[in-house]
Amino acid sequence: MARSSSLSSAARRRLMLTVALVLALSHVAHVHGGSRAGLSSSFYDSSCPSTRDIVRRVIQDARVADARIPASLIRLHFHDCFANGCDGSLLLDDDIFSGIRTEKKVPGNNRSARGFNVVDDIKRALEKACPGIVSCADILALAAEISVELAGGPSWSVPLGRRDGTKTNIESANDLPSPFDSLEILQEKFRNMGLDDTDLVALQGAHTFGRAQCQFTQRNCTAGQGRGTLVNLDVVTPDVFDNEYYDILLQGLAQLRSDQVMLSDPIAEATTAPIVRRFSSSQKDFFKNFAASMIKMGNIRPLTRKDGEIRKNCRRVNKKLY
Ligand code: HEM
Ligand SMILES: *[C@@H]1O[C@H](CO)[C@@H](O)[C@H](O)[C@H]1NC(C)=O
Ligand SMILES: *[C@@H]1O[C@H](CO)[C@@H](O)[C@H](O)[C@H]1NC(C)=O
Repeated sequence: MARSSSLSSAARRRLMLTVALVLALSHVAHVHGGSRAGLSSSFYDSSCPSTRDIVRRVIQDARVADARIPASLIRLHFHDCFANGCDGSLLLDDDIFSGIRTEKKVPGNNRSARGFNVVDDIKRALEKACPGIVSCADILALAAEISVELAGGPSWSVPLGRRDGTKTNIESANDLPSPFDSLEILQEKFRNMGLDDTDLVALQGAHTFGRAQCQFTQRNCTAGQGRGTLVNLDVVTPDVFDNEYYDILLQGLAQLRSDQVMLSDPIAEATTAPIVRRFSSSQKDFFKNFAASMIKMGNIRPLTRKDGEIRKNCRRVNKKLY
């Protein structure tokens, strides 16, 4: 006799109701809870409740020695998410035994992306407190938010629960936005990630802090300056996260051409320029949009549930092939 036929009709109804309820709830969680990407800001609340405090403490210590660190860390999250999704792929070093070719040497990152030692310090502290729990991809997302907050910018609930990838993607890392891209190309690169003009204008607002090498700036380097000579991206308040960046654009004084094109390009007036003016006239408006766009960027193709792994060391995949 089949087991199901031994269930009373009342029990069968209860079972069907339960199944329907679970399906309905999972649908609600999918749409409203955390994010559509399947992440949740309470992800480590029970498995590693000190996660945020630990990340914050390490960044605090690091920025005492190097005021640029918060800027460098948010940029790592951006470059991670744009290459193969927010999967920590940017953090992997070259490793011939695992077949890993690092993204750190593509033009957008070579001698430019920095802060990797701080990520290592955060990972070490987290592994001590909660071994094997917090992913490197989530460390970058949390570090980005905490960095902005520490520099005077907005705070937001960071959706968490990303897992770490086991491969890199050199092709997409090679295609990171370049300071010499036209507005149209920048828009296209952002659109490919599900990010619109408002996201583009808001996220470039991260150039309100940090440095650039003179070789990438509109004015290029002056005679006698090495190509790697650093200039402040925000010449007025270099280490503060504020909306000063948009005033600088309005004055035509952006360091990067890719910043200025949001006002100067022929198609800017119909697309990005009004948003630049909006954010320059309201820091509150900028902060609100920046937080929303950061969450959108952090949702780019994360690995969740059974996909990927929680790396023990952000520079290496856990399993070796040999
Ligand atoms: C629109 C496309 C973008 C382009 C073309 C671009 C380009 C650049 C370039 C050329 C630099 C200087 C790198 C160097 O000199 O080594 C830089 C620095 C920086 N970028 Fe962007 N960027 C873009 C978008 C973003 C986004 C979306 C974020 C974050 C949300 C961001 C955050 C930063 C920060 C904070 C720095 C300073 C980093 C440091 O001081 O270490 N950028 N960017
Ligand atoms: C990275 O930069 C260094 C120093 O400029 C250079 O020697 C090296 O060839 C670059 N690597 C790649 C892969 O371009
Ligand atoms: C900046 O100046 C250097 C040295 O003169 C030159 O080789 C390089 O092409 C210039 N870069 C840009 C973007 O104009």
